[in-house]
Amino acid sequence: MIIPQKIYLIQDISALRLKSDAITAGGATTQGGTMTQDPDLHRLELSPAKGPEVRQSFISGMGKVASAVTLVTTHGTAGRFGQTVTAMMSVSADPPTLVIGLFRGAPVADAVRTNRCFAVNVLSTENIPIAQDFAGAAGPDTRYKFGEEWSSMRTGSPVLPSASAVFDCHAEQFLVAGSHLLIIGRVVDAKATDATTLTYGSRAYGSHAPVPR
Ligand SMILES: Cc1cc2nc3c(=O)[nH]c(=O)nc-3n(C[C@H](O)[C@H](O)[C@H](O)COP(=O)(O)O)c2cc1C
Repeated sequence: MIIPQKIYLIQDISALRLKSDAITAGGATTQGGTMTQDPDLHRLELSPAKGPEVRQSFISGMGKVASAVTLVTTHGTAGRFGQTVTAMMSVSADPPTLVIGLFRGAPVADAVRTNRCFAVNVLSTENIPIAQDFAGAAGPDTRYKFGEEWSSMRTGSPVLPSASAVFDCHAEQFLVAGSHLLIIGRVVDAKATDATTLTYGSRAYGSHAPVPR
């Protein structure tokens, strides 16, 4: 029998920030208070030796999952930030809703919580240098610099005209899941262009191609 893992809706979002040193080698969090264990899950608990093995298989398996590369941005009282993110999926069209997953230690996660808004820029195949910059390759001084080409839609979050699609969102719900914060966004504006979407899978950038029949 598969027991579904519970995700906890946190009302007090002030306690959600995760310090990197709060993550153990096995991936479980040690931060007190915010993560409650489901008693049912104890029956599925792994031996200490098996934990790292499954973690490694999980990472290898997830490496086989190709995803669209997005740049999540936010602008508001907490400042302007952006981060390269593949953890994004559609939730509902009625009303238009999506979810993103951000590492809780990332500055952008703190900023989205305060600003209560974000934009998902679905990057195009021309945007690989931007994906790299906003994944940290540019260094802290230039990482959050937004050039003149950037614009905005309704929430004020930075929007990239060369993106293949943009979803401008109000951050509605916050859910803690391990080291990451899932943020459910109500889409208040959206656009799609003709650009080809950039993907990431098997540790490489690419793009989707239909399988010939
Ligand atoms: C292709 C790609 C996908 C990524 N996806 C995510 C993601 O879904 N969520 C996330 O929090 N970080 C993601 N990251 C990592 C961040 O962009 C960033 O590299 C990481 O937080 C390290 O930031 P730091 O330099 O501030 O430590 C991704 C990075 C790359 C290159």
